[in-house]
Amino acid sequence: MHAAPLPRRFAPSNPLTGRIRVPGDKSISHRSLMFGALAIGETRVTGLLEGEDVLATAAALRAMGAQVERGEDGTWSIRGVGVGGLLQPRTAIEMGNSGTSTRLLMGLIASHGITATFTGDASLSKRPMNRVIEPLSRMGAQFHGAPGGTLPLTMEGMTPAIPIEYRLPVASAQVKSAVLLAGLNAPGITSVIEPVPTRDHTERMLKGFGAAIEVEETGGERTIRLTGEADLSPQTIEVPGDPSSAAFFIVAATLVEGSDLTIENVGLNPTRAGLIAVLREMGADIEELDRRDVGGEPVADLRVRHAALTGIEVAPALAPSMIDEFPVLFVAAALARGTTRTTGLEELRVKESDRLSAMATALAAIGARVEETPDGLVIEGTGGEPLPGGGPVATHLDHRIAMSMAVAGLASRQGVEVDDTRPIATSFPSFEALLAEASA
Ligand code: S3P
Repeated sequence: MHAAPLPRRFAPSNPLTGRIRVPGDKSISHRSLMFGALAIGETRVTGLLEGEDVLATAAALRAMGAQVERGEDGTWSIRGVGVGGLLQPRTAIEMGNSGTSTRLLMGLIASHGITATFTGDASLSKRPMNRVIEPLSRMGAQFHGAPGGTLPLTMEGMTPAIPIEYRLPVASAQVKSAVLLAGLNAPGITSVIEPVPTRDHTERMLKGFGAAIEVEETGGERTIRLTGEADLSPQTIEVPGDPSSAAFFIVAATLVEGSDLTIENVGLNPTRAGLIAVLREMGADIEELDRRDVGGEPVADLRVRHAALTGIEVAPALAPSMIDEFPVLFVAAALARGTTRTTGLEELRVKESDRLSAMATALAAIGARVEETPDGLVIEGTGGEPLPGGGPVATHLDHRIAMSMAVAGLASRQGVEVDDTRPIATSFPSFEALLAEASA
């Protein structure tokens, strides 16, 4: 990251038109590298997201003995060490801004007999790690230097680790995945019970890599059982486009009059597709073209045309399937007719920033009517009138706040000044270039 903040003003936009392709899915990219690092032989990955978060995962895996290389044509090659084969890293593992890298790698290390120190940036160093420390300690790992459960901290893994049955106290795919990844090298069956389903890429991909993993659904709950001391076989993976990155363009094309934009190759896994359902309920015009399967995930091209939106109550049960999309949904709500009410979003307070507070403050600063509640926002929309605009708005080292407020700028009268665009590179390095291309 550059040393100094990079402010930028996002001006009212021309219509968004043409065809664009967003980069690969962040969740699937992290997992492709990690599972490849545990398979013996060569895993090849195309469409990998080359954002800072995923590159932090790649660097950590190299430090633990895997060979991770990018070919000239953009294909990534991972030669793994086998389950149980990770080596002790020689220096601290620098995780930057990435909660996913940190929590999933803690899971991996928990069942290896190695010690590792994790460090991160100012945003990551505030985020709660107790949610993984607690189950991984039950499996035998030890954690030092984290009285408040935040980075920097040092962990010692344990072999053999103890397989556990764990009921998730928070709806978190990261916690689920950390326990399952630790279970890969624990003798016996590790199970995770999810009262509310969260993104299921870990389950789908581990099955693809040959692990014995079963998912059972009863009464709305999902139980995932993984048989440990697994052997993973290398795979060829095509990473679909990230729906969480597509979200900014879906909302931008919906808000900017005259837009007709096709976003190609967007992942539509049902555990990730909540935003599309909510926007459609608000009146958005999103067409799915050429639905197909890419790398075991449902994918389509999305054609999005400008449409007027109406405020709704967003069912809290939808939250896990659009957990990263709320900041940009709040922008859509600020331009809808009537009131949008969201509840059950406490988890947004522990993302890269407190996204309820950050978005309430940023939207209010550009003239939107927003009320912050303990677990959501209530937004009174303009009925399609552009927001006044202004700023600078504070992004708090949070890529999704920066991109959401950029979208708000496109649909404003005077534009929106974003205080720092550097964090965008953690998940979507080509965001500004694609925006320029679509609105040229
Ligand atoms: C992710 C899970 C989500 C999400 C994050 C990526 C993953 O976090 O916000 O961007 O890849 O498992 P939680 O599991 O903490 O909700």
